[in-house]
Amino acid sequence: MRQYTFKSIVFAVGCVVALALPGQAMAANSKPIVIKFSHVVANDTPKGQGAQLLQKLVKEKLGDKVKIEVYPNSSLYDDTKGLNALLTGDVQLLAPSMAKLGQYSSSVQLFDLPFLFDNLEAVTRFEEGDGGQKILKSMQGHNILGLAYWHNGMRQMTANEPLLTPRDARGMKLRVEPSNVLAAQINELHAVPRKMAFGEVYQGMQTGVVDGQGGNTWSNIYSQKWNEVQSDMTESNNGVLDYMLITNAKFWKGLPDDVRTQLDDIIAQVTKSVNDKAGELNQQAKQDIIDAGGTEVHELDKAQLKEWRDAMTPVVEQFSDEIGPDLIKAAQESNQS
Ligand code: LMR
Repeated sequence: MRQYTFKSIVFAVGCVVALALPGQAMAANSKPIVIKFSHVVANDTPKGQGAQLLQKLVKEKLGDKVKIEVYPNSSLYDDTKGLNALLTGDVQLLAPSMAKLGQYSSSVQLFDLPFLFDNLEAVTRFEEGDGGQKILKSMQGHNILGLAYWHNGMRQMTANEPLLTPRDARGMKLRVEPSNVLAAQINELHAVPRKMAFGEVYQGMQTGVVDGQGGNTWSNIYSQKWNEVQSDMTESNNGVLDYMLITNAKFWKGLPDDVRTQLDDIIAQVTKSVNDKAGELNQQAKQDIIDAGGTEVHELDKAQLKEWRDAMTPVVEQFSDEIGPDLIKAAQESNQS
């Protein structure tokens, strides 16, 4: 009969333990998993703060297992290059405005429709409901996984002349994000949409390549200093600019289970913080613009607001089949609390 020595038994037990606990065994000696998070806005905006909080919490809770590197202000990629880099695995996290995701999902274009949501509370209700959750998963065929929705805020129009009625925008060249829905809204005003990367807008306004822009948030307007090159802003609330935190689906599914679970928990915590603070951050930025002087912020009366709505909302019908009438209905219903 074969004799087992004490040494061989210890060795065999050691092998079994190492095989049973691969995660722990690796974590002790291996390098941290590096997650690059690239975005295009400033740190003192809802997304900028969210990225920094994510980095901080991951450092606190996952120590040497995972390292988040944040690249703000288009310092690594603009949104278009960032999306390509996500697909090739050169970056692992992005949170683009959903206006940049229409090429991967027709339903995500819903968020670009004009005057669809009355306020951020309605946006939250929709995002947390079935429709929002469906859109979050709508890009998996492209290997893009939606992890969460992060708020920025409602869109405001700016130019170098007061935009009080849709007629005021006629003939103007207005910057929009690369979204067919946003471009269509500008066409409805008989103005000219110019798709332009976020980082190029200030210069575009300064040199007259564009006369203004068709809707962005107070926090983006102020942190990009567009108020230095735009004399008039209209509190139009003509749409929402919200983000989807996205990752490369294969990368995410390939993470060790315990790491992915902890990251999901941290993301839920960060999402709550971003969404709780976004409204206030935007109101502060609006006030900062007013305090900086040199720019007039116009509020619209009911009749003027109706004119803008009437001018832009044919776009809802135009994109209804592409986006999905049921989703649009659910979004409209989210305005009733
Ligand atoms: C824009 O391009 O205007 C925005 O999508 C930028 C951003 O990320 O908020």
